[in-house]
Formats: sequence, C-alpha cells, structure tokens
Amino acid sequence: MGIFDTHAHYDDERFDEDRDELLTRLGRGDEINPFGVDYVMHCATDMESSLRALELAERYPFVYCALGFHPSDADKFQEGDEEKLEKLLAHPKAVAVGECGLEYHYDFVSRETQKRVLEKMFCLSERLGLPIVLHDREAHGDIMDFVYRHKDAFGIVHSYSGSGEMAKDLIRRGWYVSFSGSVTFKNAENLRAAAKEVSLDRILVETDAPYLTPVPYRKYRNDSRYCYETLAVLASVKGVTTEELCDITKRNAINLLKI
Ligand code: NI
Repeated sequence: MGIFDTHAHYDDERFDEDRDELLTRLGRGDEINPFGVDYVMHCATDMESSLRALELAERYPFVYCALGFHPSDADKFQEGDEEKLEKLLAHPKAVAVGECGLEYHYDFVSRETQKRVLEKMFCLSERLGLPIVLHDREAHGDIMDFVYRHKDAFGIVHSYSGSGEMAKDLIRRGWYVSFSGSVTFKNAENLRAAAKEVSLDRILVETDAPYLTPVPYRKYRNDSRYCYETLAVLASVKGVTTEELCDITKRNAINLLKI
C-alpha cells in the first residue's frame, strides 16, 4: 500500500542537507503519508543531472529514473549528447526519456532551441521504445503538435495543466496524465474539472519535488510523502477512496514504465 511518485528531482540542492536521511525513511508511513512510498521516478534535467539520477537509482532500490534535457536547460545540449544519453538509457533502472518539453512561462532558453532539443528527445524515445516525460508550461498547442507528429511516441504529460478535452485527446493517443500538488491549490477549479475527464487507467500522481507542495503544506519543501494530499484531492474528484487511487496510480505507472 505505498505511493508511486512519478516525478521528483532529488538531486536539487534543496535536498543537500538531508537527502540520504529523507530517502531512507520515505518507504515508511508517517503522519504526512500513512501509506509510505513504494516507488519514485527521479527526473533528470541535463547531462550531469542524468548521471546523478543513475547514481540515486543505483543506491536506492525504489528509485527509477528518466534521463534527458529540461526545456530550461535545452541550451546546454551539445553535439553527441544524444548518443551519450542513449548509452545511459540502456541502464535497467533508466525507464523513460525526460524531463523534456516546452517552457513558455519563463524564457530562459529561446523557443527555437527548446523545440530543436525536444525534437531530438522525441526521436530518441521513439527509437528506444521508451516513454517520454513532457513538461508543458503555457505551451499546450505546440506540445500537442509534437504529440500529433510523433505517432509512435507515448508517455506522460507531467504536472498536467491543460483542459479536459486535451487530456482526452492525449489518452486516445496512448498517453498518461500526471497530476502534481497544483491540483490541490485553491484556484485550481479548472484543473480539478480536467481531472474528472481523465480515465482511471491513465491517471498518475507526482510531486515535482522540491516544487509544487500541495495544500495545506505550501510553505514546506516538497517530497514524495506529500503525494498523499494530491491523491486525496484527486480521489474525491474521481469518486474513489484515497487507498484505491494510490493503488490504481501505482499500477498505471508500473505498466507504463515496465517496472
Ligand atoms: Ni520537473
């Protein structure tokens, strides 16, 4: 009866002080998360972060990883990185390509560069037959263009922020939709309405730790235990119990990531 957190960044410096202590006790239930955490998919953001992701995955049996370039780090992508990533993705605990995508809220990297690197990540995921983890911030139209063009690609749209219609379109095309703590925010009525449209066989939960801590823990650093709050809100939207949704989302993630 443990949670599968499908998106976390445990190499973030905000975990430097207590990373090992925290990861060692995640599996046990506590007052924040009575279920415990069974699995985490740690998501890399560039080449160095991909190496750190594999270190974490080798150290902790419950940690798996996605390797790739985040759109805000897309300018770090160098000639030959695709081949390097492909080699790293042969590791048995590297189960997806990512985190990659489009970030249009911040313009740290030009949209042209973001799209060029995302194209490479899509081709890599299709070639290897691995799922891809997509970041979509204020870029729904362009993200769907990638999905439409890459018909063999499949995976997760993470920290989902689109409409119910877009979610149904993704699901028809074989994709999964992952909800973060943002679905618990007071002003997230539209997101909860979108979650209603996501079928139970395609729904996932995540933290995006250390970011997006759910209500009522907004002022704290996020970690996988807080998925419990996200599960509780989603469960009430979907008309199932928190326990049932915990089990459903875990099974979905295991199926998708072939763990
Ligand atoms: Ni992320």
